[in-house]
Amino acid sequence: MLRPLVAVLLALSIHGTCFGWGADGHKIIGAIAAASLSKETAKAISDLIGEETLADACCWADEIKSDKSYDWAKSLHYINAPRGAQSIDMKRDGAGGEQIVTAIATNLATLKDASQPKAKRVEALKFLLHFVGDIHQPLHVSYKEDLGGNKLTVQSFGKKSNLHKVFDTDLIQRRLRDTKGGWAVMSADLRQAITDEQRKQWLANLDALAWANESLVITIQLYKQPPADLKVDTAYYKQWSPVVNERLQMAGVRLGALLNDAFQTNAPAKKPA
Ligand code: ADE
Ligand code: ZN
Ligand code: ZN
Repeated sequence: MLRPLVAVLLALSIHGTCFGWGADGHKIIGAIAAASLSKETAKAISDLIGEETLADACCWADEIKSDKSYDWAKSLHYINAPRGAQSIDMKRDGAGGEQIVTAIATNLATLKDASQPKAKRVEALKFLLHFVGDIHQPLHVSYKEDLGGNKLTVQSFGKKSNLHKVFDTDLIQRRLRDTKGGWAVMSADLRQAITDEQRKQWLANLDALAWANESLVITIQLYKQPPADLKVDTAYYKQWSPVVNERLQMAGVRLGALLNDAFQTNAPAKKPA
């Protein structure tokens, strides 16, 4: 009798721990990426994470936020720039140490390094899966004063929220409200809508700094035009959910390509016949 209640409470508590895109956003990105993996890459990944799906593994970096021994990783989920900046300057904005741009490079390098212990490579893979998602969430490339919109309180569909959470979670949940089958169906729909031309454009540059700069351009727009009366309503959803959807698609496509690259270059060179 208690079991369904326990399951609901557990689901709520897990959901509550997700920062960055909410759990659904990260799973959507993971499933889009998973669909583009080569056989070799899929095998290499299951050798590292076992039975866990890629979509679930994308959420790990948020689940450990309550673990004090991972406090060092909290600042790796974002990068901030001064108001007025049109692009990220790594000397200026990355001066405080590791942040999302360098964390993507560092974890990719660890993942590719077969001489590293397996546990380290598993962790690097899980960080990478998550950070490639987060860097595509516009407000993860934002401003320190209001913690990337976390301090900017808004009413979102009648509930208290903040601008950061609107983009992490609320706009996705609004679409999921009308989507039978939840995040998996939303992910399949978004993936099938990607054109060859988009894929080509998005893969032209597998560079985390370029992705961060795209996010900053969106963030600048978001701050120029905050929700009217700080209320997120259907009009705001109609305006910004296409942007959210495209960022989820871009993150998934790029994550898949990054993983295929990582495991290709890792493969032992073919012996000449
Ligand atoms: N804390 C400070 N800045 C942040 C940002 N841009 N995103 C998430 N958390 C933050
Ligand atoms: Zn995150
Ligand atoms: Zn976030």
